[in-house]
Amino acid sequence: MRILAIDTSCDETAVAIVEGRKVLSNVIFSQILIHKKWGGVVPNLAKKAHEDRIDMIVQESLRRYLINRKITDNLRYGFPNSIEEDAMKEIGGIAVTQGPGLAVALEVGIKKAKEMAKKYRKKLIAVNHLEGHIYSPFVQNRQGKPKISFNFPYLALIVSGGHTELVVLNKHLEYQRIGATLDDAAGEALDKAAKLLGLGYPGGPLIERLAKEADNKDYHNLPRPMLKSDNLNFSFSGLKTAFYYLLKKGNQNLSGKITRELASSFQCSVFEVLVMKTEKAIKKTGINNLLVGGGVIANLRLRKLFRDLASKYSGKVAFPPYKYLTGDNAAMIGVVASFKAEKELYFNDLNVLDREPRLELC
Ligand code: KG4
Ligand code: ZN
Repeated sequence: MRILAIDTSCDETAVAIVEGRKVLSNVIFSQILIHKKWGGVVPNLAKKAHEDRIDMIVQESLRRYLINRKITDNLRYGFPNSIEEDAMKEIGGIAVTQGPGLAVALEVGIKKAKEMAKKYRKKLIAVNHLEGHIYSPFVQNRQGKPKISFNFPYLALIVSGGHTELVVLNKHLEYQRIGATLDDAAGEALDKAAKLLGLGYPGGPLIERLAKEADNKDYHNLPRPMLKSDNLNFSFSGLKTAFYYLLKKGNQNLSGKITRELASSFQCSVFEVLVMKTEKAIKKTGINNLLVGGGVIANLRLRKLFRDLASKYSGKVAFPPYKYLTGDNAAMIGVVASFKAEKELYFNDLNVLDREPRLELC
């Protein structure tokens, strides 16, 4: 069954069309330029940007779907309404992110999904955004690549701007959360550190670039919060405070070398905590088959650390195979929805579906 999926959980308006794990069409409108000057996501601006663009992004995804199928070349230059109706005849269901995320942003996607499900009489499938990040390593391109197959059980780590969670996946769609952050998420910590350094937003990629060029990678040897605790939870807000005082103590004159070493030390601390907690989880659960999803796993240094960890335990690790799948996107939501559709997990009463900003996995 082909599924049209929508994600408006935060600052990306995203629509994709998938068939099983294959992505037939994918459109993401990032609002980074809108929020950048405020140093973070501004909810009302996000809501407005989603509202202004959702119709256009849905149409664009359908147009690209048809072009990819080589149905008509005329579509390159326009999109008559009747074509939306024709394209929708080939779609079996509508999937939408129900939460977690920004309430005012989630609402826009849910409203659109309900309207389309009603108008075209399609099944509606509600997806948890975090399930999307967990399944993102299994998303395939139109040709069905990469071919990686499922081999349960998995230990999954989500590392995004809003979440840091360790989850056991014994079979499809069954999650057991075994650890989570008590305050800031890993990406959020990197964003805040970048802000303190005056680097800009989002901070993760900027810190990665500086860290790569630092002479002494862990010069400041910042605290590794919660590393000695026996549980699998994370906490990054203390690290941010330690970083703040370290900067305050310095002479404020951040030369290139000093900034690079500060950025790199902060990254080292966050990444060591992520890797060591995951190692603890491997030991506790006996699962050495890892999945890592979320914006922060775009970082190549972190990928290497997880590859090393997996091989230390003779296991494997899978990441999102294409860069767009690390950040927010609707393709991963569509792929989860495909597995839900196989089990007929539909949302039958359209009117009841509502956003759940704090939705949890289990
Ligand atoms: O998954 P995502 O796009 O959005 C959420 O669902 O939160 O993740 C965004 C986060 C931001 O905190 C951003 O700084 C971080 O991912 N990020 C990175 C990199 N690229 C994005 N962190 C470290 N290294 C990167 N290359
Ligand atoms: Zn996300």
